[in-house]
Amino acid sequence: MLVYSKIKSLKDNISSLKKGTHIGFVPTMGALHKGHLSLIKRAVKENDIVVVSIFVNPTQFDKKEDLVNYPKTIDTDLSLLKSVHCDIVFTPTANEIYDNNISSQDFDFDGLEFQMEGKFREGHFNGVGTIVKRLFEIVTPHNAYFGEKDFQQLQIIRKMVHKNKMPVKIIGCEIYRENDGLAMSSRNTRLSEKHRKAAPFIYKTLTQVKSKFNTESISEIKNWVIEEFKKQPLLTLEYFEIADEETLKPATKVDAKYKYRAFIAVFAGKIRLIDNISL
Ligand code: PAF
Repeated sequence: MLVYSKIKSLKDNISSLKKGTHIGFVPTMGALHKGHLSLIKRAVKENDIVVVSIFVNPTQFDKKEDLVNYPKTIDTDLSLLKSVHCDIVFTPTANEIYDNNISSQDFDFDGLEFQMEGKFREGHFNGVGTIVKRLFEIVTPHNAYFGEKDFQQLQIIRKMVHKNKMPVKIIGCEIYRENDGLAMSSRNTRLSEKHRKAAPFIYKTLTQVKSKFNTESISEIKNWVIEEFKKQPLLTLEYFEIADEETLKPATKVDAKYKYRAFIAVFAGKIRLIDNISL
């Protein structure tokens, strides 16, 4: 496994590959868990070589505290990557990526960016768009893998690729969960013991939403979720939304022509957790 921190060395390696070599790419911010590893294993199966980036992207954090406290476990990450047969790891610094101008580009994602996460995390999706576009330019992947836990991010990246005719296929991968249902996330390691115990309630609620979806109205379900979280002293609901999978616009009634998903963001103490379920 090769590890590069300089763009030029990585690009030199990529341009020396035999013509027709299929490159799979998994961008990450490190603190790797089984969810990441499942994306990488899939990329290994479907491509000739796999590149994984580890870069905690400053422009996508709306809160400095969250950026500073983001878990960093580079040595463990590298041995995990080796164990799943990753070929190349890219670990740039912020200055290497942003050429000493750490700022994000303004994107138009046709309104996807104004829903849910976009309402609560100012500038987040411009930061995500900026880094993912930059990494795609450097790595030039054929296939890029993203988890459905960040479903809004996945749809936004699909939109960016489509609008800019980028030559990369975006592959969404199912959410990987702990045995108790909690969606895997690098942030889970920052949960206190009592918040970790409380957090599976999020997915439990989503599965109940899924069964209510056929029999109850959207407003009834939303009110039910709000009331359920009021009974949870350790969890604070930030938003719950049932939205169209394509436009991410909140649904008010169900039309059989469209696919829907329930989305949720919850604070467990200071740690913000998100999850979603297809309905
Ligand atoms: O999902 C993430 O970990 C990040 O948003 C990504 C895609 C690596 C961009 O920094």
